[in-house]
Amino acid sequence: GWWFAGEKLLIALPLLLPPAAGAALVTLPHLLSTRRRSSPWTEFFPLVAAYGAVAGVVAGVAVGYPLSGPPAIVLVLAVAGGAVATWSIRARKGPPGRAWRIAGAVVTAAALAWTGLSMWNSRPTTIRLAAGPAVAAVQQTSTRVRHFDLTARKATITLASGRRVEALTFNGVTPGPPIRVRQGDTVEVTLRNELQDRGVTLHWHGYRVPNAMDGVPGLTQDAVGPGGSFVYRFVADQPGTYWYHTHETPNLALQQGLFGTFTVDPAPPHGLDEPLPIHTYQGTLTIAGVDGISRRTVRPGTPVRLRVINTDNTPHTVGMSVPYAIKAVDGTDIGGPPTTGRVELAAGGRYDLAFTMPGQPALLSAGRAGTGLVLTPGSRAVPEEPAGPIVDITRYGTRDVTPPARFDREDTWVLDRLIALRNGLPLLSHTVNGQVWPHVPPTVVRNGDWVRVTVVNRSGDHHPMHPHGHRVLVLERDGEATLPTWMDSFDVAPGEVWVVALHADNPGVWLAHCHELTHAAEGMTLHLAYEGAGTPYALDEHNHPE
Ligand code: C2O
Ligand code: CU
Repeated sequence: GWWFAGEKLLIALPLLLPPAAGAALVTLPHLLSTRRRSSPWTEFFPLVAAYGAVAGVVAGVAVGYPLSGPPAIVLVLAVAGGAVATWSIRARKGPPGRAWRIAGAVVTAAALAWTGLSMWNSRPTTIRLAAGPAVAAVQQTSTRVRHFDLTARKATITLASGRRVEALTFNGVTPGPPIRVRQGDTVEVTLRNELQDRGVTLHWHGYRVPNAMDGVPGLTQDAVGPGGSFVYRFVADQPGTYWYHTHETPNLALQQGLFGTFTVDPAPPHGLDEPLPIHTYQGTLTIAGVDGISRRTVRPGTPVRLRVINTDNTPHTVGMSVPYAIKAVDGTDIGGPPTTGRVELAAGGRYDLAFTMPGQPALLSAGRAGTGLVLTPGSRAVPEEPAGPIVDITRYGTRDVTPPARFDREDTWVLDRLIALRNGLPLLSHTVNGQVWPHVPPTVVRNGDWVRVTVVNRSGDHHPMHPHGHRVLVLERDGEATLPTWMDSFDVAPGEVWVVALHADNPGVWLAHCHELTHAAEGMTLHLAYEGAGTPYALDEHNHPE
């Protein structure tokens, strides 16, 4: 669309092309002629072309979309001013006069002051995103309470292969203890922190918890510091496959092991029904914490439901060696015929794969030979790696969903890779609408709104976008309608444009970010702000939700 081309066609090219054409016209004949006579033109055009080229590059790598009026005007004025100054200095055929030297000094000083001020403004500092009292969590106590204790501590874990990994764990294990409850139960989790050197929280990835239980330091609570504790409590009224993880410096702490699975059953599970996080520990791929091939003995005819969870930063290609149906995406049930294809699972995303155990072994693969889960009626054979075609999950199966007929608001998230000021320095960053966290303008909503969000990926990386506290209904990819698909972690590939519908029905101040967590930490994080919702917490030296 236009946003991929707009500022390039309107600003970058005009700044470069006319001076470049002028430079070529003037200098080429001169270069070819035998009589070399200097004229002011021979230097003027090449210099202005150079100014334009620099301004065009700045527009492309430092401003990006949206290229608003002020930076566009500054860039054009800078090139025009440089041209005028160059021309008059050359026309005088001598060193610049006093007036030009003063003008040059003033412009340089102003540019330096502006740069310094911008760097100062981007330094790490205490920021409160929406001052005000938190949205109170409604306490429902009428249901059965299931209590869990999770204590964050360091541990050296030994993988099945014998490889030892220095990990961060809950209760000494990673993945942490599975939390599995019945729909309607009240979940109560006491988090304790025995780490010496970092805070920790619990975020319920994909789950529609009250804002105060969302586990985002600086937005919904303060990070639980060394020796501290916090109690999470919410009603598990939504069934499906989810997971929990720390949200304090998650790019480091989650990768090192501070996560676990969270499953909510609408009815007692039957057959083999297991959450299976895929996680890479220091380069070693694991399924449910096991590297290499692991096995379960399953009687033929047993119903099987494998709840595959991608807890890594990058997508995984998931497949089975036997036909299977995808029963749920990100915790929401879908209908679907058996397939022999493979599916791309976004970072943070979940697919429930179901089939009836056949008479021969079945292999679940996460796309790397040598790592997998084999369900077997008895034999030790390992089936061939699945190699079926990639199934587009947004067009697979059937849905029982009616998209909203109209929207109350629209918003656009343009994801890009630009140079931006972070922590006081100009750094290559992952940006949303040209800005980095916490300066990305929030998506503002009112309780009850349907919001149409267009997500554009202008960069060369995958961006698995994840709004907290809400799922979104995927409606379009690259201008073509998809099946309406509820997701909470949707992978926008390089160059793609997704249109999703978000129903604002859970008031609060919610993080939304790329779940390639290094991108989130390098700026690709924003927040969803409900009108009237506030937070008493602040982003400061203890709270780093990105
Ligand atoms: Cu897995 Cu901010 O989330
Ligand atoms: Cu990303």
